[in-house]
Amino acid sequence: MTGDRKESSELDRIVQNIMSVLESEDSKIYSEEVIAEFRDPANVGWVADADGRGIADGLCNDTMEITLKLDGDRVAKCMFFTDGCGATIACGSRLTKIAIGKNVDEALEIEPDYLADLLGGLPDDHKHCTSLAVIALRNALRDCVRRRREKEDGEP
Ligand code: FES
Repeated sequence: MTGDRKESSELDRIVQNIMSVLESEDSKIYSEEVIAEFRDPANVGWVADADGRGIADGLCNDTMEITLKLDGDRVAKCMFFTDGCGATIACGSRLTKIAIGKNVDEALEIEPDYLADLLGGLPDDHKHCTSLAVIALRNALRDCVRRRREKEDGEP
């Protein structure tokens, strides 16, 4: 085995060890639903030509951004981006999945506690991650409504 290969397999082994420690730590504090969502999150990124964009800033300094596209009154596309923790990624993923297909009023009614329940609960110090996601979604929905109204008002 050449020196480079040996170093790379050693590095792989170290990364594997770190991953398995992280996985065992995660499994102690997070539900299976949270772990599954943040390992394979859906709807990550930004919707092209979005009809609305919402941002929320947390007291923890994490942020969440949600962009949306409506089809009539229904959420057709919904994506998130966050610099937050794994729980926040799980919240963005699950929230965008459940928002798609709802009309604007229904999506505005999604509550942080409901999102937490869908995720099998969150540790106390991560409960605010649900609010961050829900506030970003509500801001994006209100932005859609505001832009639509402005467009309608601007038309002759
Ligand atoms: Fe702050 Fe998750 S959003 S720790």
